[in-house]
Amino acid sequence: EKVYLNGKILDADQAQISVFDRGFIFGDGIYEVMARINGRFFFKKAHLDRLKWCLKQIDISLDVDALEREIPALLQASGLDNKDCLLYMQVSRGVAPRQHSFPKGIRRTVMMYAWEKKLPDINNNHASVVTMADFRWSRCDIKMTSLLGNVMANEHAMQNDCYETVFERNGIITEASHCNVFFVKDGVVYTHPTGPYLLDGITRQVVLELCEQLAIEVRLEGVPASEIQNMDEAFLTGTSTQVLAIQKVDDYSYFEKEPGPLTQKLQQAFLGLKR
Ligand code: PDD
Repeated sequence: EKVYLNGKILDADQAQISVFDRGFIFGDGIYEVMARINGRFFFKKAHLDRLKWCLKQIDISLDVDALEREIPALLQASGLDNKDCLLYMQVSRGVAPRQHSFPKGIRRTVMMYAWEKKLPDINNNHASVVTMADFRWSRCDIKMTSLLGNVMANEHAMQNDCYETVFERNGIITEASHCNVFFVKDGVVYTHPTGPYLLDGITRQVVLELCEQLAIEVRLEGVPASEIQNMDEAFLTGTSTQVLAIQKVDDYSYFEKEPGPLTQKLQQAFLGLKR
């Protein structure tokens, strides 16, 4: 396995980072995950634009376009040129004596690696989810490496034999531990508006675009947790999750065998995208 680290492509066991790296000490960093399907990255520009925006939010400077140009060599060294894979990219603030505020004059640490991954067949799959009060902070729009809240929430899902934990904040469903959440009611698609309480997922953006193309009405409104049982359909979106039907939320089932019609329609449109 190969790793890109600060300009070099190394064997994974040679890729070493200081224990004083702020990514390790504070989770002071930003990351991205992109899927490569049939030889091209799925909405690469949107992912790299989000990376640039997130880096700016925490005042780390990096030439993301130059980093993008390093990706093909990494894929080639990893033997993945012709394979579907996921690419993980991480930029942390770098190495410095421990102090909370941003140290001046240090160099960011940049790491990327890719692994073979065929995305699951969403047509024959669905998810059970549990709800939980969101105990994370109020900058969930930053795709940061400090993921303890998300990690604990996803572990909670696993403990309950579920795929995901869906967060509610002040009674409103926002997102899940590593996905965005959509609902359908009377032919209208609902998802929480962007803002500080969720990540603006690229898959979310793609699905909203598909709704527009298919003339499906969208309301950017968070669904109250108390309304979950009054919704007709629900689904998750995310880079590796794609568009996945939610079969069950807590003890409430949306369907027995087949997801609802709008979920299926959006899944077909999603799979039909040039990718
Ligand atoms: N998860 N919300 C959160 C909290 C996420 O971590 C993610 C992505 C999403 C969906 O975003 P996108 O559609 O751009 O992947 C929403 C990444 C892939 C992860 O698992 O780390």
